[in-house]
Amino acid sequence: MIPVDGSISALQWQNKELILLDQTKLPEEEVYLTCTDYRMVAEAIRRLAVRGAPAIGVAAAFGVVLGAYELLASKRDLVTDLEPVFRELAETRPTAVNLFWALARMKKVLAAGLGATPEQLAQALEKEAVRLYHEDIEANLKIGEQGAALLADGMTVLTICNTGALATVAHGTALAVIRTAVRQGKKIGVVACETRPLLQGARLTTWELMKEQIPVTLITDNMAGYLMQQGKIQAVLTGADRIAANGDVVNKIGTYTLAVLAREHGLPFYVAAPTSTIDYNIPCGAQIPIEERSGDEVTQIQGKQIAPAGVKVYNPAFDLTPTRLVTAVITERGLIRREEWEKTRA
Ligand code: MRU
Repeated sequence: MIPVDGSISALQWQNKELILLDQTKLPEEEVYLTCTDYRMVAEAIRRLAVRGAPAIGVAAAFGVVLGAYELLASKRDLVTDLEPVFRELAETRPTAVNLFWALARMKKVLAAGLGATPEQLAQALEKEAVRLYHEDIEANLKIGEQGAALLADGMTVLTICNTGALATVAHGTALAVIRTAVRQGKKIGVVACETRPLLQGARLTTWELMKEQIPVTLITDNMAGYLMQQGKIQAVLTGADRIAANGDVVNKIGTYTLAVLAREHGLPFYVAAPTSTIDYNIPCGAQIPIEERSGDEVTQIQGKQIAPAGVKVYNPAFDLTPTRLVTAVITERGLIRREEWEKTRA
């Protein structure tokens, strides 16, 4: 399968195995997990060894393929017995719609193949997962091109979480925009919010950008407003886990705070996401399920206790940014500006 022009590869399908770069170990160690069955894929998604909306969608699709080959080997019926496989993969994380979108694509293949031999069905599922993999790369390259025009030479862009090659098959979404602008010869600086509690900004975004010598400065999440006040930021650029039909954006916790700050400081707030992240079945963001994770992620940093044992904790992994705060969503098909959401369904 294609490794992508120097971009980091967090997810590879090789010899009917899914190889994942274990993101929980970065930046200290580059450890690869070889998933030989769908349960391993589900567990990797649950514990964020693979993470980021597009990446978990593609990983889950390969999870279905692994499930199919397992059933084939034990001569079981793919159509009925793949149901628990779909269910387990769908229950790993509730917020990023790309997961459910990719599983729905796989289910469609299964439905279209009724009457085919089990071998043909398994192969058709593998083909569809590989298609999803390639489609993600293509979408991200296009997002990069669409968005790069918004970044002028000399800009410093603030971002949150990790929206790069690690969060997708390759290139990333928000980071694809930055990568493309840099490849066009623009000088772009990046300020990365550390992204507590799991530090995707500090551990992953800095690691990814430093590998490509894209200038990046790390800050703690509570420093963003001060940098804006000092005139050190010219735009905010984030990814999304799910966008409702009205343009409300659900993304990593802390995104809403940045959008409010951007509005106060008159800065554009851009969201980069493939159209597979838009959920037209959900009319507004308040209906998007927000994942709540273990309180240990807040009371500990990388396994070290930092708060009194037994303290009450609330740990939502995502938050909701209303459409009115989003200047534009950058998709592979073009920009959707704040005032255009009404028209997008068509
Ligand atoms: O909990 P995570 O690390 O999976 O959260 C990821 C994000 O919030 C990203 O911003 C989003 O998935 C877009 S990634 C291209």
